[in-house]
Amino acid sequence: MAYSRITGTGSYLPEKVLSNSDLAQTVDTTDEWIFERTGIRRRHIAAEGEQTSDLAQAAAEHAMQAAGVTAADIDLIIVATSTPDMIFPSTACLLQAKLGVTGGAAFDVQAVCSGFIYALATADKFVSSGTSKCALVIGAETFSRILDWTDRRTCVLFGDGAGAVVLQPSEAPGVLSAHLHSDGRHSGILRVPGGVQNGKVVGHPFLEMNGQAVYKQAVRVLGEVTQEALKANGLTGADLHWMVPHQANIRIIMSTAEKLGLKPEQVVTTVHDHGNTSAASIPLALDVAVRDGRIQRGHNVIFEAVGGGLTWGAVLVRW
Ligand code: UT7
Repeated sequence: MAYSRITGTGSYLPEKVLSNSDLAQTVDTTDEWIFERTGIRRRHIAAEGEQTSDLAQAAAEHAMQAAGVTAADIDLIIVATSTPDMIFPSTACLLQAKLGVTGGAAFDVQAVCSGFIYALATADKFVSSGTSKCALVIGAETFSRILDWTDRRTCVLFGDGAGAVVLQPSEAPGVLSAHLHSDGRHSGILRVPGGVQNGKVVGHPFLEMNGQAVYKQAVRVLGEVTQEALKANGLTGADLHWMVPHQANIRIIMSTAEKLGLKPEQVVTTVHDHGNTSAASIPLALDVAVRDGRIQRGHNVIFEAVGGGLTWGAVLVRW
């Protein structure tokens, strides 16, 4: 059986850092409230004119360098984003041109904070089946552009950034399995309900969230899907070396880790420095833990995420 394997990781964060104390100057909040409820201390914010595809380009170039591949090798680009540069062309096509890639397919995946899990699962099918020989999978977001900066319930939670991986065929695992779920009945609890019609923005164009409803669903579905991934491979939590979760809230992350029997030091967390970067958060955290040497060849690593839709999923990888 052929597998797909991550052969390089990369990430990019915009230069500007916005701390909780900075935010407390403009909205009715405090560093203590934000940190205690979420674990967030600061987040990065894209510069004016810096687009999602620019963030994606920097992350992709770092991942390609790490994998030792060039633009000529890439035959598939999947970008997970809910904050595309424009309605169309896709951010993946814009990125393809910026990278100088001229062959293969490029498309976006929209599964909000679960986007990277969905994109990685999709690319794994292409690579393990032999359809693609070298895929780029990217999570990239400029969530700062879809936030109402006067709404303290949401604007303190999110940040901008991008993370990328290169996926190539391998005789040995690799991606062990991917598990995707969605339930559109919960679409109202986390959404940006606006759209463009006849040249006008119709509906509310900023992020709305029922935080407590999302929290309850998140704790439940992440517990279920991580067990599903382990069971599918005949493994238990004791076989895991690392969890690289979606970085929305430290309390949700640690509740899932506890159910898996993981120690806090086995969980890669960047939420304090990055905030919630939606589809970018897992590949951003992964790149940190690969580059600082924590994740080593042969380690079992689980990725998990939940987001608007509702969407959720997990990918189990042998590094
Ligand atoms: O990535 C997608 C997945 N998203 C998530 O995983 C988010 C899941 N939800 C959460 O992480 C949490 O629900 C939040 C962090 C968003 C909110 O925490 P909470 O403990 O559920 O707080 P709450 O919404 O129940 O609000 C508690 C209080 C309220 O005041 P009252 O009504 O009790 O007087 C809020 O108005 O905190 C108030 N509040 C704030 N106070 C200071 C809400 N936002 C803020 C703020 N600063 N930024």
